[in-house]
Amino acid sequence: MNNLKFLALCTAFLSLITLGACSGENGEVKLGLEQEKAMSERLAPAGEVSLAGEVSSAPAASGGGSRSGDDVYNKSCKTCHGAGMAGAPKFGAPDQWAARIDKGMDTMYTSAISGFQGMPPKGLCMDCSDDELKAAVDYMVDGSK
Ligand code: HEC
Repeated sequence: MNNLKFLALCTAFLSLITLGACSGENGEVKLGLEQEKAMSERLAPAGEVSLAGEVSSAPAASGGGSRSGDDVYNKSCKTCHGAGMAGAPKFGAPDQWAARIDKGMDTMYTSAISGFQGMPPKGLCMDCSDDELKAAVDYMVDGSK
């Protein structure tokens, strides 16, 4: 009987301590979180400033104008035109280009931009601008005369 009473007392005592400790801890954690929040709010403007600096410098670094015909050819056109694959006029083979060149450069540009039979639109360089594609045509034609 005494043991049970002691146990009950102990349990009550323990739970009191636990509750007390928990609520105390919770209070502390909450305060910590609030302090952290307040701190990060104070720090935020500094973080935003450095982030804005990074963002504003990024376009300047990558916005360096359009790619050259050489670049576009090597990245997008060479796959087919380098080896003359699937009936593509081969780079550096004047006999395969002469008849096409005779059609006029505007026709060639249109073929490169919009596609022409086996030639896919934009030569599959979907992010190439018209000017970049024209430069690539010029590069191929100049190298195949
Ligand atoms: C998937 C293969 C492939 C790729 C990639 C490709 N071409 Fe072609 N291209 C062809 C084929 C095939 C032809 C021949 C079409 C025909 O005459 O039937 C051709 C023809 C052409 C012609 C001649 C069109 C005409 O009117 O006679 C030009 C110019 C041309 N390509 C430019 C390019 C440029 C520029 C690129 C890269 C941006 C490119 N091609 C990428 C397959 C390709």
